[in-house]
Amino acid sequence: MSDKTDTKAAPHHVAIIMDGNGRWAQQRGRPRLFGHHAGARRVRQIVEACPGQGVKYLTIFAFSTENWKRTQTEVAGLMSLFRRYIEREAKALIENGIRVRFIGDRIRLDDKLVAMMDELELLTAHNDLVHLTVALNYGGRDEVTRAAKRLAFEIEQGRLTHEDVDAETLSKFLDTHVLPDPDLVIRTSGEARISNFLLWQSAYSEYEFVDTLWPDFTATEFAKVLSSYGRRNRRFGAVTV
Ligand code: FPP
Repeated sequence: MSDKTDTKAAPHHVAIIMDGNGRWAQQRGRPRLFGHHAGARRVRQIVEACPGQGVKYLTIFAFSTENWKRTQTEVAGLMSLFRRYIEREAKALIENGIRVRFIGDRIRLDDKLVAMMDELELLTAHNDLVHLTVALNYGGRDEVTRAAKRLAFEIEQGRLTHEDVDAETLSKFLDTHVLPDPDLVIRTSGEARISNFLLWQSAYSEYEFVDTLWPDFTATEFAKVLSSYGRRNRRFGAVTV
């Protein structure tokens, strides 16, 4: 590894598709929820690793708009895991300088969970060490569709005209409007697809697919993936000489 490689900037914004909890549990002969609980513990470690790695924004895919198709037991278990996670982690997140945001459509989530999400966002609003965004009932197509609907409403109301519609204006209506685009998207568990995650925002992101199942994805492996990002040459569609 050359010096040049070592000094390359860390990704400012990392997004993670945390896949493989189910298989991790299955390998141990345990129910899928056992894997999700192990996955939740891993979230904490990876969040804690961010400041030391120079990662300012971390966005994690916790529940997709398609995940409702899972069994009622698994969906209910995941929802209760999210509530417990907020209950248990809130104090540490507040004290450790983590600003938490949630993206996704809240309409289908239960009122208690939504109230907890709102409260955590509020309680961490002054934090700035790491910006953690949790995608919950999130789908990229759903997000763009909701944004388009709101934009159409603004036009209907006469506050905008069709001439105002460009990529920048549409971006302002996305759930992620306050976030930078991800520099790097990581997916664990060996699957090489993006599953409707940050479709618009990841247009120029680098992708890293790792075989490790999410509950086994350690801070050391995270650091390795980040350093391999540092060796990439991002061109954003341009030609470098
Ligand atoms: C994908 O693994 C994982 C999920 C659908 C849930 C992600 C949730 C967590 C990591 C739990 C906690 C998160 C927070 C924010 C507290 P999978 O079930 O699709 O695994 P499989 O592909 O092996 O079946």
